[in-house]
Amino acid sequence: MADGDGVASELATLREKVRDHLHRYHVLDDPEISDVEYDALFEQLASLERRHPHLVTADSPTQRVGAPPAAGFTPVVHELPMLSLDKCASDQEFAEWEGRCRSRLSYEGHFEFACEPKIDGVAVSLLYEAGVLTRAATRGDGQTGEDITANVRTVRGVPLKLRGDGFPPRLEVRGEIYMPLADFRAFNEKAAAAGERALVNPRNGAAGSLRQMDPKLTAARPLSIFCYSAGLRQGWSPTTQSEVLATLQRWGLPVNRSAATVQGVGGCLDYCRSLLAERDQLGYEIDGVVMKVNEFALQEALGAVTRKPRWAIAFKYPAEEATTTLRAVDFQVGRTGAITPVAKLEPVFVGGVTVSNATLHNMDEIERLDLRVGDAVLVHRAGDVIPQITKVILARRPEDAETLAMPSTCPACDTAIERGEGEVVARCPAGLTCPAQRRQALRHFGSRLAMDIGGLGEKLIDQLVTRELVQDPSDLYRLTAENIAELERMAEKSAANLIAALNASKATTFARFIYALGIREVGESTAVALANHFGTLAALREATEEALAEVPDVGPVVAAQVRQFFAAAHNQRVIDELLALGVQWPAPEQPEAAPLSGETWVLTGALAGMTRNAAKARLVALGAKVAASVSANTTRVVAGDGAGSKLAEAKRLGVTVIDEEELLDALQKHETRSGADSP
Ligand code: IVH
Repeated sequence: MADGDGVASELATLREKVRDHLHRYHVLDDPEISDVEYDALFEQLASLERRHPHLVTADSPTQRVGAPPAAGFTPVVHELPMLSLDKCASDQEFAEWEGRCRSRLSYEGHFEFACEPKIDGVAVSLLYEAGVLTRAATRGDGQTGEDITANVRTVRGVPLKLRGDGFPPRLEVRGEIYMPLADFRAFNEKAAAAGERALVNPRNGAAGSLRQMDPKLTAARPLSIFCYSAGLRQGWSPTTQSEVLATLQRWGLPVNRSAATVQGVGGCLDYCRSLLAERDQLGYEIDGVVMKVNEFALQEALGAVTRKPRWAIAFKYPAEEATTTLRAVDFQVGRTGAITPVAKLEPVFVGGVTVSNATLHNMDEIERLDLRVGDAVLVHRAGDVIPQITKVILARRPEDAETLAMPSTCPACDTAIERGEGEVVARCPAGLTCPAQRRQALRHFGSRLAMDIGGLGEKLIDQLVTRELVQDPSDLYRLTAENIAELERMAEKSAANLIAALNASKATTFARFIYALGIREVGESTAVALANHFGTLAALREATEEALAEVPDVGPVVAAQVRQFFAAAHNQRVIDELLALGVQWPAPEQPEAAPLSGETWVLTGALAGMTRNAAKARLVALGAKVAASVSANTTRVVAGDGAGSKLAEAKRLGVTVIDEEELLDALQKHETRSGADSP
C-alpha cells in the first residue's frame, strides 16, 4: 500500500468504520462489536495515521485529544441566546401553567407536549459547519459562554462529523453533557484507590472535566451527551420538537431515549410519575422533566419572557442533595458485630423524605471525608438508597468542630473492638453474647423474608433480650403466653397473637431457614441457591468449602463463611433445638423443580400491587435471575406503569414483554406448583 491514494482511501474506510461503531454505541445504544474489538480497530486507524501524518484529517475519530493545554477560555457570544427554564414542583402548579398557556392563545383542547428528562449536567452549544464540529461553548450567562471546543471534542458521544445529509450549512445543536453514574462511581473508586480526590457528584464531575485546561485530562473523564434542541438552523424548518429530536438522532447526535410526546396535562403528569419511578435505574442523574409545547407554531405564538420561554417548563423532582449539620456520630453494632459509624444529622428534606441519619460505613470513610461533629455537610439520597454524606463544606467548619475517634470497646457490651489487619471494618468479637448482636440476629431471624414472625418488632425484642427471656433464636419458640404478657405494652390478646405467629412460622421453607440463620454473606438469593443445590439440611451442614463453592453464585468468601458457621458447635446446637421445637419444611424439591431456573427477568416501571423488591424476591425464589438491564438474553420484561427505555429496548430486541397481571399469574402458577415461598 505505497501509493498515497490507496492509503487515503484505506484511512477513509477505517474512519468510517470507527465512526459507525461509535454511532452504534453512543446514539443507537446497540454496539455490534466488543470494546476490545473496537479498541483494536481504533488502534489500526491510529497506527496507519502515525505512519502517514500528512493524511490525518481534523474530523478523524483519532483527533479528539490534540489541542495543547490552554491558558484560558475564549468568550463566545451566542448568536441566539441560550434560555433557561421556568419551573414547577407540583401537579397543580403544572396544570396552572398549562392553563395560562392555553388562555394566552385562547386554545381549545389539549396541547401536545414533548417530554424529556431534565439531565443534571452542563449545557453546551455545538456548532456544526458543513457537518463538521467547529466550535463548542458553555452556556455562560445565556448570552456569552466560553469556548470549550478542545474539551468537548474528547467526549466520545459528540460526533466530530454529522452523518447522512440534509443538515443545514450552519447548525447549532444544544444539549447536556453529563457523567453516567457507573462511570462516576468507577472514577471515584479509582481515585480512592490512588489516594486522589473524589468527585463530589456527577454534575460537578462533568463541569470540572469540561473546565480542564488540558484536554487530555478531560479525555480521561468519562463524559456523555444528550442533545435536545437546535439553536441556529439555517434553512432547516422543522415544525415540532419531536421532529427536531428525531432528525438530530438521524444526523448522528445522541438523543435521550426516554423522550416522548404526550397529550395534555394528564399525559405530562403520567410521564413525570413514570420517569420518577425509573429515576434510580436510568444510569444518569436527572433533576426533573422538561415539558415543551410540541408545535413550533404554538411556541412562537407563546414567545418568551426575560430569558425564559413561555412554551416550556421544568417539573422539578425532589432534590437528591441537600446541606445540613452533623450533630453527632453514633457507633452501631450490626448483626455480625461490625461497628458502623452513623451520622446524626440536623433533619433535612432530601430525595423526597426527611433525613436525620446517614451511614458512614467505617472509620476510613470518616477520614476520607475529614468529618467532624458540627460540620456543614452535603447529604445525598437517591431512590431507596441509604442517605450518604458526600462532602464536608470546609468553608463553613465551626472553630469548635470536634474530631472523631473509633471507640476502643463495643458500645453495647464493652468487649474490646477488633480490626483485622488490612480490614476496613472494626468488629465486636463477642458474637451472640453481645446484646446488640443478639437483638439484630433475632430481628433478622423473625424478619419477613426469613421466618416471618409477625408482631416480633424491635421494641419487643429489646425487652425479651433485656429480661433475658431470649438468648438465641430457639428460645423464641420456648416463650409462653404468660412470659409475653408480663412485658410492657403486651396485652393478653397480643401475647396470644405472637404465640400464634411463632407457631405458624415453624412451617417454613429450607431457603428461608438458611437465610434466617444469618450466616455472614448469605442473603436471600444465596440462601435459595444453597437450598436448591443441597436439598437437605444434613447435606448443607456437612458440605466442604469445595462443595459449597460449586453452588452457582457462591464464591470462596461465601463458602468459607458458610463452612465456618456450621463448624461452630454453638450454631449446630441452636439448629438442633430449632428442629426439635418443630421448625420444619417440605421435603426437598428436585433441583429442576425451580420452575424459572435458567430464566432472566427484568422489572421496569412501577407495579401497582407490590414493590419491585417484593416481585424480585418472588422471582428469585422461583429460580429466576433478575437483571437490571435488558439484553438479548433476557427471558421476560415486566413493564409496570411508566416503563420507559427498558421497555423500548425489549421491543427492539424482540424480548417478550408482560404486564403486572401476567406477572401475578405466572408467580401464582409457579408458586402453587412448586410450593415455593412467597414473601
Ligand atoms: S431545554 C428553552 N431540555 O436545563 C429551553 N434543557 O433550566 C431550555 N436541561 O440550561 C433548555 N435537560 O442545561 C432543555 N431536555 C432538556 C434539558 C435541559 C437539561 C438543562 C439545560 C438548561 C437548563 C434550563
